[in-house]
Amino acid sequence: MTDALRLVDITEDHLEDVLRIRRQSFGTMASGDRDEWWKYAVKFLEDGRYVGVADGDALVAAARFWNFGQWWSGRRIPVAGVAGVVVSPEYRGRGVGSLLMRGVMRRGVEKGFPLSALYPATTVIYRHLGYEFGGSRYKYSFQSADLRRLGGKDVSIRRAGPDDAQRFLEVASRVNESRRSNGVLIWPLDEIEEWLADEDNTAFLADDGFVLYNWAGDEELSVDELIAGSEQTARALWATVGSGSSIARTVHAYLPPGDPIHLMIETEADKKAEEQRWMLRLLDAPAAIAARGFAPSAVVEVDVRIDDPDVPENSGDWHLTVADGVGELAPAEAADSMRFGPRGLAALYAGTSLNVLRGAGLAKGPATNDAALDAAFAGSASYMLDYF
Ligand SMILES: CC(C)(COP(=O)(O)OP(=O)(O)OC[C@H]1O[C@@H](n2cnc3c(N)ncnc32)[C@H](O)[C@@H]1OP(=O)(O)O)[C@@H](O)C(=O)NCCC(=O)NCCS
Repeated sequence: MTDALRLVDITEDHLEDVLRIRRQSFGTMASGDRDEWWKYAVKFLEDGRYVGVADGDALVAAARFWNFGQWWSGRRIPVAGVAGVVVSPEYRGRGVGSLLMRGVMRRGVEKGFPLSALYPATTVIYRHLGYEFGGSRYKYSFQSADLRRLGGKDVSIRRAGPDDAQRFLEVASRVNESRRSNGVLIWPLDEIEEWLADEDNTAFLADDGFVLYNWAGDEELSVDELIAGSEQTARALWATVGSGSSIARTVHAYLPPGDPIHLMIETEADKKAEEQRWMLRLLDAPAAIAARGFAPSAVVEVDVRIDDPDVPENSGDWHLTVADGVGELAPAEAADSMRFGPRGLAALYAGTSLNVLRGAGLAKGPATNDAALDAAFAGSASYMLDYF
């Protein structure tokens, strides 16, 4: 690493270099995808969400982040979804990736994101920077014929188009709020409009639910999202996807392990579900705690010490309170406190039990409040439906 290495904002002039480093990192992009990639890249850089590392005049690394929302126990919280982290091969293994990610995290803090999340190609670099597993993305496979028999014929559903994007968001909000979902992403409205405008996608809407799916192969369909606020709507939407069973024998679906379909369908999903883990980090601990929902009956009063070298604003002595489903992290005097680094804090936030955190060395100090903390942060297993 030379002294000339510095963080830069990616501009359109850098994009050919970013594409080259991406090619060297992920392989060649199809020519149609290149235009799409460029269009997105411009959106990210115009909003200051594309950060790079330059050596003199040469760009040697880049990463960007999405402005997603994320559900945590029924409340929505802005999350910086980091993607496209690439370092030019001749600069790897010298701290450039870490410099880049510190720049990304700092930008996330400046832009007011309490949380950051990412899908790691390797966990090592992200763990060093305070990210820890926050949840998973699951892919289940069903026999279409089993879905076809689910019924729901009395529920009226209609085809959905780009004008229904806001409606999709509202329906998803209602269901995720009432289920007190954890981890699920909220995409920007214009992205949902694009999904609904894409002729490769099929989408249907009911009063309290929707489904969006597409072909995954000659005889396979893939459900990207299916959300239903009632049993009958779930039956109707799943049966509609399954109605293609004469051609599409298998339906793959991105779903949480706790989705009602698992209890509704007579024959269970294929034994082998795919799981892809994602990582979480708190960029602004007090804001992240204030924005999250908590189990309504949980009561917590505990002193915590956080040691977070990469986001020093999080470091120090704090008093964590939870009551009536609301949390607060307030500055406090030094005490005989529980101690967390950023990884332990992220895993706790995502609902990992204190027993597991202590077992992994990610929580230390007095155990008096472990049960209360478990009860406060507990909830349904956190998941995402989408990769980014
Ligand atoms: C992954 C990548 C971004 C890391 O960049 P880098 O500049 O090599 O990272 P750093 O030098 O700052 O390394 C930070 C730590 O991560 C480790 N690390 C880096 N790449 C790793 C890999 N592929 N596997 C395991 N550990 C890795 C380093 O050894 C170092 O740990 P250490 O301090 O214990 O030795 C870079 O290798 C890359 O561009 N890879 C191809 C694209 C990719 O996979 N991107 C990630 C998408 S999520």
